[in-house]
Amino acid sequence: MESAEIRSRFLNYFESKGHTVVPSASLLLDDPTLLFVNAGMVPFKPYFLGEAAPPYPRAVSAQKVVRTLDIEEVGKTTRHASFFQMCGNFSFGDYFKEQAIPYAWELLTSPVSAGGYGFPEDKLWVTVYLDDDESVDIWHKVVGVPMERIQRRDMADNYWSMGVPGPCGPCSEIYYDRGPEHGREGGPIADETRYLEVWNLVFMQFERGEGPGKENFPILGELPSKSIDTGMGLERMAALLQGVDNIYEIDTTRIILDRASELSGRKYGADPKSDVALRVVADHARTCAFLIADGVLPGNEGRGYVLRRILRRVVRNMRLLGTNDPSMKELIAASITAMAPQYPELLSEQGRIMSIAAAEEETFLSTLERAGGFASAQEVYRLMQREGESIGLTTVYRSLQSLVNDKIVDVLRRDDGEAIYRLCGEAHHHHLVCKGCGDTVEIEGGAIEKWAKMMAEEHGFREVGHTAEIFGLCAKC
Ligand code: ALA
Repeated sequence: MESAEIRSRFLNYFESKGHTVVPSASLLLDDPTLLFVNAGMVPFKPYFLGEAAPPYPRAVSAQKVVRTLDIEEVGKTTRHASFFQMCGNFSFGDYFKEQAIPYAWELLTSPVSAGGYGFPEDKLWVTVYLDDDESVDIWHKVVGVPMERIQRRDMADNYWSMGVPGPCGPCSEIYYDRGPEHGREGGPIADETRYLEVWNLVFMQFERGEGPGKENFPILGELPSKSIDTGMGLERMAALLQGVDNIYEIDTTRIILDRASELSGRKYGADPKSDVALRVVADHARTCAFLIADGVLPGNEGRGYVLRRILRRVVRNMRLLGTNDPSMKELIAASITAMAPQYPELLSEQGRIMSIAAAEEETFLSTLERAGGFASAQEVYRLMQREGESIGLTTVYRSLQSLVNDKIVDVLRRDDGEAIYRLCGEAHHHHLVCKGCGDTVEIEGGAIEKWAKMMAEEHGFREVGHTAEIFGLCAKC
């Protein structure tokens, strides 16, 4: 079943149950607690909190979402994405769990010929929050799920909030058992790769305050009314219904992955390391297209920085795949081809998105250009003449590189040919700033001081106070 079809079945099902179909909001909403819309419920937050009167008691949407918290996992697991679409049904003080649970079950298990997704009932497992006996009863007595496929989990897993102050509540998740070849027996509590979460039903009841992201945050009180917020990941669903191993191989994402494969000449499936890079490129290129479409520009702060980082990771991964030529334009074009059937606005924005992405790529490629290799013999000589130092840049770079070998992969030369390091942070923890993604890499235990001392003693290197700069690329970049 194609992604577009999965999406329209979801919308149609809930529309037939009296829900108003609401188009996806922009990824950028005016919410000071969030950089990007990170869940389908974000546009509806004021209705849950009672800050605004909902124009409809029930709604259904397929919302664009960007989440970058798990960005390091993208491409390595079967299910992490920086951009995805969340299908959700919502009740604002209308129905509660007694109806939300049977709705989800019916859509998942109805035959494909009847508009459902056709999942066999015995492959579905559910989890509920520790003390949520009410949900256990609905799952078991009303829906008919055997008790052995209902598991209870604590706050970290079965209590949902936006990670920041706002509406929250216990949740119940539905998992699909992909079979023993994907991992251990024992349900979602044993193995979340084998048992893939497909749908999260949140019973919005409370308002949370400041505190840690997932658990142990204060509950400020009850919401004005009990509401429903659900989220079914469209890409995960597509992976299951299309019989592919992971979300990067579904119809839409695969178009981008195949383009990256053509551009780099690396065949997908031939080498695990290249496969990760291809999947990262496929995921990230699409995220860039959507972020730029919604008005983000690359920059050094906030949303702009997130875009810059993601785009540079695309470039870096293309280089890992052996392509040093610009490829953002082609990757953006492939992303738009893949997504335009669901988001036609991408087509009218195509020229603008491409030129912003290509300009950023060009800047980054020229930075990487300058990073290439150590200083030439002439430059070292020139420097030695000027500085009267008995040290060459080559020595400096080599020595620094061996010091931080596993942390940074390249030490860049500054534009003016000048070396080298800046000690930042406290005595025992120094941070190197990665020139690629801007991330900081921590080096512990006075290693930099030791290195500086060695450089001074053995090579007559002059330590310029505690300030100079390290330009490097981290191993992730
Ligand atoms: N808001 C819930 C989630 O994002 C449904 O999982």
